[in-house]
Amino acid sequence: MKKFIPILLILSLVLNVFLVYFFMFKGETSITENDTRIAIHTSYSNKEFVMKEMRGFLESVRDINEGILQKNPEKIIKAAEKSGGAATEHVPEGLLKALPMEFKKLGFDTHDQFDQLAKSVKKQFNKDEAQQQVNKILYNCTQCHQSFKFEVKP
Ligand code: HEC
Repeated sequence: MKKFIPILLILSLVLNVFLVYFFMFKGETSITENDTRIAIHTSYSNKEFVMKEMRGFLESVRDINEGILQKNPEKIIKAAEKSGGAATEHVPEGLLKALPMEFKKLGFDTHDQFDQLAKSVKKQFNKDEAQQQVNKILYNCTQCHQSFKFEVKP
């Protein structure tokens, strides 16, 4: 009997690693031929939740850029905060589970960077610095778009 305990422990460890990988890292995904992007499977309404967030991102980037051109810190702060972490509060059920870890990391980091931009403009508006921060955000956008797409579950 004593012999079995380490074996059971190892088995349970392997199972745990597998479960953590499956539920936390992999999400509900698949790979499609001729496409380098990983497909995330989710319901129409969950996809639409993310797409709405995306359209908000693009509006923020537009308004931040306009604010930089007009040297209008208030406009930049408002636009950046709109896409900050507060926007992630009402994530629908099932969505987080479907998203792979890398997607979540990039997504949260993007919201975070919008908050950081708002914060530094609040402290002091510097045109070059603000533009640099927007550029860094845009790298997150493009990296994620190169890596993932959504596929609606029937
Ligand atoms: C964490 C990943 C991720 C990040 C970060 C991200 N996107 Fe997206 N975005 C996606 C995915 C996935 C789609 C859907 C692509 C598909 O299914 O073909 C998408 C779609 C979009 C769309 C289309 C929306 C629609 O109505 O169909 C826009 C616009 C967009 N993103 C803008 C942005 C902008 C601007 C940023 C950066 C500020 C950004 N995204 C950052 C993953 C991301």
